[in-house]
Amino acid sequence: MVRELDEFLRIPSVSTLPAHDADCRRAAEWVAGALRRLGCREVELLASDPHPVVWGVGPAVPGAPTLLIYGHYDVQPPDPLAEWVSPPFEPAIRDGKLFARGAADDKGQVFCLLKAIEALGQPPVNFRFLIEGEEEYGSRVLFDLLRREPQRTQADAVLVADMAFVAPRWPAVYTALRGLCYAEITVRTARTDLHSGEFGGAAPNAHEELVRLLGRLKGPDGKINVPGLYAAVKPPSREERAAWKKLPFREADFLKSRVQAKALTGLKRYSVLERLWALPTFEIHGIKGGFTGDGAKTVIPAEATAKVSLRLVPNQKLKTVERQLAAAVKRLVPKYVTARVEFLHGADPAQVKVTHPAFKLLDQAFREVAGRGTVPVRAGGSIPVVPALGQSGAPVILTGIGLPDDRLHAPNEKLDLQQLWDGIEVFGRFYQLLGASRRGVEKRR
Ligand code: BES
Ligand code: MN
Ligand code: MN
Repeated sequence: MVRELDEFLRIPSVSTLPAHDADCRRAAEWVAGALRRLGCREVELLASDPHPVVWGVGPAVPGAPTLLIYGHYDVQPPDPLAEWVSPPFEPAIRDGKLFARGAADDKGQVFCLLKAIEALGQPPVNFRFLIEGEEEYGSRVLFDLLRREPQRTQADAVLVADMAFVAPRWPAVYTALRGLCYAEITVRTARTDLHSGEFGGAAPNAHEELVRLLGRLKGPDGKINVPGLYAAVKPPSREERAAWKKLPFREADFLKSRVQAKALTGLKRYSVLERLWALPTFEIHGIKGGFTGDGAKTVIPAEATAKVSLRLVPNQKLKTVERQLAAAVKRLVPKYVTARVEFLHGADPAQVKVTHPAFKLLDQAFREVAGRGTVPVRAGGSIPVVPALGQSGAPVILTGIGLPDDRLHAPNEKLDLQQLWDGIEVFGRFYQLLGASRRGVEKRR
C-alpha cells in the first residue's frame, strides 16, 4: 500500500501553478485508474479546464444506500524547498510518518477512503466519487459543474475526509468551515520607477503606500478595519463555547508545540479557539514589486502588489466581503495613489448540522475501531464546494484521519501511517454500517 500511495504522492499536482498542468492531469489519471481497479462502472474526467474532476460510479448494489465520496488530488506549492528534510515529491518514511506534499492534504486521505472499499471487497453501498484537482485554488471548475449538473450530488450521504483529529486519539466531525476571500491589492504611485536620488524625498513610493495601507487594514490589536465586516458574524452558541472548553486543547501547548512562536496574536478578548473558528481573519501572503534580487538597486518602485486573504465565518457572505474590502481599500489610500483590488477566488463559509443518522454511524465506526467516537468541532480552514455538495439535501460528513501537527501547506507535511491503517478500518466499518442502515434495508425488501 505504501508503494501505491508513494506513486500518487510523487506526482507534483500543484493546481495553482500552470507549469504543473500536465502533472495535475497525471494525478487525475492516477485516481481514475484506482477507481477502475475498484470496479467502477463509469469513470470519467469531467470539465478539464484547467484541471479535470474525476467522476466515478461504483458497482451497483440494488437497494443499498448511495454514498458520494469527495476529495482532491491537487496540492499546494511546496516552497520553501530548502526547509524540507526530504524533497516534497519524494515520499520518505521516518519514525512511522510518511513525509510528502499531499500526504495528509488530501492524497493520503483519498487513498484511505479507497483502500477501505478495496479491503471489504464489495461493501453494500452504491459509491459515487467526485475527486477534484482545483480545491487548493478555489474549486471553480467543480462549482460550475455542480451548478450545471446538480444531480451528481444526489446521494444518501456525502463523505469528505480532508481534515484532522482535534488531538491525537480524538477523532472529529466538523460542524463549520470558514470561507475565504482571496485578493491581490495593487497600488500604483507613478508612471514608471524613479531614481531614488533624483526623486527621493519628493516622489511617492508604491511600497511605502502599500505597507501603510496594509498596516491600516488590520491594527496591532488584531481588529480588521474593514467597515461592516463584523456585522454578520454569528457568535458561537453558549453550548458550543462550553463544549470547546472541554476539548483537549490548551492555548499554551498550541503556542509552544504548534505555532512555535514567541506569542499568540489577534483579538485578545476572545479565546484562541474562537479566534480560529468563529472570527474572520486578514492575512498577508506575499508582497511583490520593487527590487528584491541580490545586491542593491536604488529605485523608487511605481507599483506594488500584496496577496491577501480574509477567512469568513458564519453568517458572512463572500460577495458582501468582497465589496467591503474593495471599499475599505479605496477609503484608506490617499488621493494620489491608484489602488486596484482583484479577487482570485473565494468561498462562502459552511455550516453543517450533525444530527442526521449517518453521523451516528461514523461515530460508532470510530468508537469501535479507534476506541473513541467523534467530537463535534469547527475548522479554521475552508473547502469551497462543501455547500454545493449538500445542495441535493444529503448530509455532508466532514471528518478525517490527519493529526493537528501534519503541517498542511507547510514544509515537511506528513501523515502518520498508523492513522492511515486505522482509518482504513474505520471507514470500512462505516461503509458496512451504512450499508446495513435502515435506508438500505427498507429498499432491499
Ligand atoms: N483540507 C484543507 C482544508 C482544511 C484544513 C480544513 C484544515 C480543516 C482543517 C483544504 O485542502 C484547504 O487547504 N483549503 C484551502 C481552500 C482555499 C484555497 C480556497 C484553504 O483552506 O486554504
Ligand atoms: Mn484539503
Ligand atoms: Mn489544503
